[in-house]
Amino acid sequence: MATILVTGGCGYIGSHTCVELINLHHDVIIVDNLYNSSIKVLDRIKEITGVKPKFYQVDILDRAALDQVFAENKIDAVIHFAGYKAVGESVAIPLTYYKNNISGSINLYEAMAKANVKTIVFSSSATVYGDPASVPIKEDFPLSTTNPYGTTKLYNEQILKDVYVSDAEWSILLLRYFNPIGAHKSGLLGETPNGIPNNLLPYIAQVATGKREFLRVWGNDYDTVDGTGVRDYIHVVDLALGHIKAIEYALGHKGVECINLGTGNGYSVLQVKDAFAKAAKMEIPYQIMDRRPGDIATCYADTTKAKELLGWSARYDIDDMCQDAWNFAQKNPNGIE
Ligand code: NAD
Ligand code: UD1
Repeated sequence: MATILVTGGCGYIGSHTCVELINLHHDVIIVDNLYNSSIKVLDRIKEITGVKPKFYQVDILDRAALDQVFAENKIDAVIHFAGYKAVGESVAIPLTYYKNNISGSINLYEAMAKANVKTIVFSSSATVYGDPASVPIKEDFPLSTTNPYGTTKLYNEQILKDVYVSDAEWSILLLRYFNPIGAHKSGLLGETPNGIPNNLLPYIAQVATGKREFLRVWGNDYDTVDGTGVRDYIHVVDLALGHIKAIEYALGHKGVECINLGTGNGYSVLQVKDAFAKAAKMEIPYQIMDRRPGDIATCYADTTKAKELLGWSARYDIDDMCQDAWNFAQKNPNGIE
């Protein structure tokens, strides 16, 4: 049993990870400024696990407040989810993204070093592979980014690699998520995007609940099974369980490792649409549009390293993901409130 500080723990992936940590009797302390989440998430976590995590409404840009959190608690390790994540927005307001995702993270790493907490699991993304030359994508593929959001992930990876070079006492896992979707089985936790969703699953869910008229499919002339984009969708609970394995590994080792968290399977936009339609027992109307600028044809993970190093692999399939996303969407038409 360990005490884990979870930054961004009220958010989509963070909240599911807190549930799994608590299920395994770890002590969880959440730091979140609630920029993109609700305080109600804490009650939902309690409803599922019986435990309400300790919570600090703190912005990671506030170094003094972070120091206070470390001073008041004996923290063994950190899982760092806090950050902004909208690709299009990051192109429009890059400095805001660099400040939050880079300056905020540096604050956190400094506060950790000062408190002598040197074990961290960081939320990176498959976006650091840019447009990969081949699939499945392995961790040693070349890295590149096409937008400020992706660059903040790449810089954080580099910063943490440099931290390890400077001090071999650190234990750092850089987890590169593929496309997290789905929700907790209870329907109490899930993804609640603000405004018009950019990502596929939240958009389909809003078509199913009648908020949007039809799905816009961004291109059907890619070199894929049906011409639409192929991605490695992973159930958010599988991703959360990957973090459990990661934190257990990190607590027992020193070093820095990059690890893909995906299923290793690719599904096209139309295949996902069909899986969701099956789960919701309804047609999902759609129209084929032009390609979305910046999109790639195909992206899925080689998951060997996660299996070998962490003993983790994903369990849920696309039908489970769509079923759980639909359950959450129906139960929470206005998000978590
Ligand atoms: P999310 O927006 O649901 O959660 C992030 C949480 O961090 C939110 O609760 C937000 O309020 C909080 N936060 C943001 N800035 C903060 C700050 N300065 N101080 C304190 N709290 C702050 O996002 P998510 O989908 O759960 O993603 C979590 C992490 O995983 C992010 O770093 C994201 O970039 C990364 N990631 C997400 C995806 C995805 O598709 N969801 C894919 C790859 C990587
Ligand atoms: C996006 C982000 C990426 C992030 C990832 C995981 C972009 C350019 N990239 O990638 O940085 O790591 O999410 O969260 O935003 N699609 C439609 N119609 C829609 C929405 C999506 O056809 O309304 C298609 C897309 O063209 C793509 C697939 O669905 O082929 C998945 O899209 P999306 O959910 O946005 O994820 P990514 O593009 O993989």
